[in-house]
Amino acid sequence: MNEQRFFRYLQERIGLDVESVGVPMVERALRQRCAALAAADLDDYWLRLQQSADEQLALIEAVIVPETWFFRYPESFTALVGLAHKRLAELAGERPLRLLSLPSSTGEEPYSLAMALLDAGISPGAFHIDGIDISPSSVAKGVQAEYGRNSFRGTDLAFRDRHFQVFADNHVLDERVRRQVSLQVGNVLDPALASRNGQYDFVFCRNLLIYFDVPTQQRVFEVLKGLANAHGVLFIGPAEGSLLARLGMRPLGIAQSFAYVRQAEATPAAPVRPLASRPAPAAPGRPVPAPPARPMPAPVAVAPPRGQGESESQLLADIARQANAGDSAQARASCQRYLQQFPPKAQVYYWLGLLSDTEGDAQQALTHYRKALYLEPQHPEALLHLATLLAAQGDEAGARRLQARAARAGRGAE
Ligand SMILES: C[S@@+](CC[C@H](N)C(=O)[O-])C[C@H]1O[C@@H](n2cnc3c(N)ncnc32)[C@H](O)[C@@H]1O
Repeated sequence: MNEQRFFRYLQERIGLDVESVGVPMVERALRQRCAALAAADLDDYWLRLQQSADEQLALIEAVIVPETWFFRYPESFTALVGLAHKRLAELAGERPLRLLSLPSSTGEEPYSLAMALLDAGISPGAFHIDGIDISPSSVAKGVQAEYGRNSFRGTDLAFRDRHFQVFADNHVLDERVRRQVSLQVGNVLDPALASRNGQYDFVFCRNLLIYFDVPTQQRVFEVLKGLANAHGVLFIGPAEGSLLARLGMRPLGIAQSFAYVRQAEATPAAPVRPLASRPAPAAPGRPVPAPPARPMPAPVAVAPPRGQGESESQLLADIARQANAGDSAQARASCQRYLQQFPPKAQVYYWLGLLSDTEGDAQQALTHYRKALYLEPQHPEALLHLATLLAAQGDEAGARRLQARAARAGRGAE
């Protein structure tokens, strides 16, 4: 099949790096669309694609990954609440907070933002959230705001009882939350977005950049940076931090929140309690790791005494708990204790990598991620984090290869 032109088209139109979702996935989408139009062959389909805006959208719908759920990366919502209180105090009623979720997919992310702020006692008039996604069908579902089981993951679902009514098999979101959010169709690559430059206090862009090649990621980061105002905070996915550092953004250092600000803003980070009440939904068979909280304590060289008869699973649980509590020194010490007592484990090296990464020690982080991948070549998070570090060091080819591997490995984990 001469598919290259379709790959190029998708790359230019929506930024999709076909390698990241896998060539077979895009080939399947092409076959599906050819069959739907009864196209004679790919040449015939190409012509019809050029002539029809509807077909262009249909192809885009067939290749996007709309996977999302409420309160994905719970710590980021805890962090947002602390930062929002602080920003509102600074604004002193001058205007409401403005938030952007891009891509918003079927609405779970922007509605989670609204629920988190309302639950924190922030009044409805004090904030508004825009959600933008390229997929018209996802936006339509978001506007409908009726959700099935897949949208609710993790263990703490108390928010569902507070904000949803049950109808048949679905949960329908309360009007009080829906009012806070405006959803619309849009493309992050559309230059018209620049008309919103400087508007947003908080910009969430998660699980989009992983589908882009490195140059497109850089371009999109510039767009996002422009959309946020001078004090704005950018929340991204777990794997994209190092690229942001090259664009003059710095992590706020709030555990597991993946929140970034412009350089000058980074120092006075809000004193946010790092721990989320909702544990993140773990990938199957994989405990949820957490980088350390701010303020980052200097690494403590002395490990606590080795626990007598400490079981492997207990120690792994301890590492997760300590990391989640933002206790990076303890988490690091427990990792070291684990490696002294048990055979090397990819997840433990991944944790050590995250701890070094968050402390800004890229070289050490690289070494740990590489060890994780030596032990478990398809460890999806280690692949993504290492890819980002390589990209930040200018090894774009290496980063691309790892991203593609991570996308293949991570599909199941999503
Ligand atoms: C995996 S979802 C992420 C949703 C949410 N941010 C989250 O993390 O759960 C990815 C979304 O990106 C959207 N998307 C893909 N390319 C886009 C583009 N160029 N501009 C805007 N949205 C895009 C897709 O339609 C899809 O809904």
